[in-house]
Parts: sequence; C-alpha cells; structure tokens
Amino acid sequence: MPTTKAPEDQYTAAPFVPQGADLTALRRAAAGCRGCPLHRAATQTIFGAGSTDARLMLVGEQPGDQEDRQGKPFVGPAGKLLDRALEEAGIDPAEAYVTNAVKHFKFTRAEPRKRRIHKAPSLREMTACGPWLAAELALVEPELIVVLGATAGKALLGSSFRVGEVRGTVLEREIHGRPERLVPTVHPSSVLRARDDDRRAAYEGLVADLEVAVRALG
Ligand code: URA
Repeated sequence: MPTTKAPEDQYTAAPFVPQGADLTALRRAAAGCRGCPLHRAATQTIFGAGSTDARLMLVGEQPGDQEDRQGKPFVGPAGKLLDRALEEAGIDPAEAYVTNAVKHFKFTRAEPRKRRIHKAPSLREMTACGPWLAAELALVEPELIVVLGATAGKALLGSSFRVGEVRGTVLEREIHGRPERLVPTVHPSSVLRARDDDRRAAYEGLVADLEVAVRALG
C-alpha cells in the first residue's frame, strides 16, 4: 500500500482496489482507501449499497453529513426525497444499487466545532475515486444507470457534461470499457434547495426523469 503523500495529479484509488473481489471484499478494501486526501477529515468510506443483481444503479455525488455518520449512501434529507421520487416513478428503492462518484464526505466548517458544510469534490478527487465506481459497475452490471446531478455526470461522462442538456434522455456510452445506458437527472438536493414556489416543479421534473428510466428498463 502506498504510504507517501501523492501529488494532487497522482491521486488515485487504483492501488487500493482488489482485482477479482466480490462486493463484500470491495467494500472492505474501500474502507482503507487513502487514494486522495478526503479520507483524512471524513469519518468513514461510504461505499455503494444494494445487490449485485440490481437492474438499476443510481450514482450520486458524494456522501453528506448524515451518510458520513451512518455509513450508508443517501440516508439523509436528499436520500429521503430521492426514495419518495423513486417510489412515485414506480421504482422500489430497495431494488436499486445506490452509490456515489466520490466515497468520502468533503466539507468545510465556518468555524471550528461548527456544522460541517458540504463542499463539491474537485475533478481530481472524482477521477481518483473512479476505480471504485468502475469496480462497482463491473460487478453489478446494471441495465441502466441513473446519473444524479452534475458531479456524477462529470465522473461518468466527462467534464463537459451539463445536466440541463441531457436530463430525462437515454444515453448510450462506453464507460470504463463497458457499453452502458444512462438517464441523467438533477441531484435530489437541488430540489431541496429550490425556492419554495419552484420546489414542486423541480420535484415533478425529477420524477418525470425517473419515469424515463422506468420505461427504458422495460
Ligand atoms: N448526496 C449524494 O450525492 N449522495 C449521498 O449519498 C447523499 C447526498
């Protein structure tokens, strides 16, 4: 295992990802990932959750405060909203495999001991974490990937990804050497952040995009 501090452009999880591992072994290995500096401040690695039999994989940005404490993806307010939207679209959240582009919570604090405030991961951190997502994709082999927001989109489809241009459409792309079908949509936390009078429409837009995913799954 590498122990020396890597320069920023050399951040990568690759040496920590065991070859030929099953999901349990992958999750265990991810708990010890030191591929970028985000592990230092985070409580724990938040690996994907769900079955390798899942037909649908949902990819978010990174764990938030609640996820960092509880050890599972999408268990905080954005996750609750996502579950509601999935159910409304006709998807059982328990049947999906849910993960994030980045597996550690990145945050700042306005003052020491104050609330932890989410900070978007950098492209380098997303790229560093990519080998975990590639390993999850290779094991789960989902029939469809729902891309939740810009960070997940950039991690999977490249830095020119713009969610507004492709949301609610079925894309076919080669990702980590495998042909994948993807439906991008907004991140559920953007619905939570919408102004009161826009929130309903933002939520309905998310549900409509998830309905596209349901139809694509057939
Ligand atoms: N937002 C994400 O993108 N992922 C989570 O797991 C929680 C909030």
